[in-house]
Amino acid sequence: MPPVSQPAGPLRLGVNIDHVATLRNARGGSHPDPVRAMRVVEAAGADGVTVHLREDRRHIIDSDVERLMAELPLPLNFEMAATQEMREIALRLRPNAVCIVPERREERTTEGGLEVVAEHNRLGDFITPLREDGRRISLFIEADPRQIDASARVNADIVELHTGRFCEAVAGGREADADKELKRLSEGAQLAHELGLEVHAGHGLDFDSVGPVAALPQVVELNIGHFLVGEALFMGLEGAIREMRARMDTARRAAFNENVPE
Ligand code: PXP
Repeated sequence: MPPVSQPAGPLRLGVNIDHVATLRNARGGSHPDPVRAMRVVEAAGADGVTVHLREDRRHIIDSDVERLMAELPLPLNFEMAATQEMREIALRLRPNAVCIVPERREERTTEGGLEVVAEHNRLGDFITPLREDGRRISLFIEADPRQIDASARVNADIVELHTGRFCEAVAGGREADADKELKRLSEGAQLAHELGLEVHAGHGLDFDSVGPVAALPQVVELNIGHFLVGEALFMGLEGAIREMRARMDTARRAAFNENVPE
C-alpha cells in the first residue's frame, strides 16, 4: 500500500463515558446516569460511545453496558481485558467493536499498551471466537513497530495507538519530547496502515493535544473520555464535545486542504 497523502477516511470521535459512572459511584446512587450522558454524546454529534468494563467494576458496571446496548443508536466500542469473563459478556452483548486493553488492579487508568508480541498465541486464540461472532477487534497498543506487526499477525482489525506519552509531553510543555512522541505515533500509524490495520488513537487527549493527532492521515477514530467529562463541569458535556469536534476538524482540514476533494 503506498504512503497516504490524504486521509484514510473521515475522522470519527468516540466519547468514553466511564467517568460519568465514576462520579455516580462516588455516592453509590444512580446519578449521573451514563445512559443519559450517552444521549448527550449523540446529540453533540459524536460518532460512537466507548466504555471500559473493568474487572473491579470501579466505574462502568454490567447493567450500564446492558442498558447502553439496548438503547444506544451509535456503535459501542467495548474496552475489556482479555479474560474469559469479559469475552463471555462481549459474546452475549455483541458490541460493534471490542477493544482489548491491558488491565492491572492497582493502576488508576490504563497504563501502557497491550503486550501483543509475547502474548501472540494466547491473544490469537482469545480473539478467534469474537472475530467469528462478527465483533471488530481492536488492540490498544503503544506505537511500537513490533507490537503493530504482531497485531496484524493475530488478525486484529484495528489498532488503537496509545497517545498518553504524547499528551503528557504537550501538557508539560516539553516540546522536544512531544515532537519525538508525535513522530513515533506518525510512523506507527503509517506502518499499521500499510499492514492493512484500521488506525485509532486515544488516551489523555485534550483541546491542546488533539490537533496534531487528528492531522495524522491514517487515523480514522479518536477515543476521548476523561478530559471531556472533566471539561463538562465548565462548559457542559455537549459544549465540550462540540469544541473537541471543531478542533479535530480544523486540524484535519488544515493538514489536507489541498488533497481533500471538494
Ligand atoms: N482508549 C483507550 C483504549 C482507553 O483505555 C482509554 C481510557 O479508558 C481511552 C481511550 C480514553 O482515555 P482518556 O479518558 O484519557 O481520554
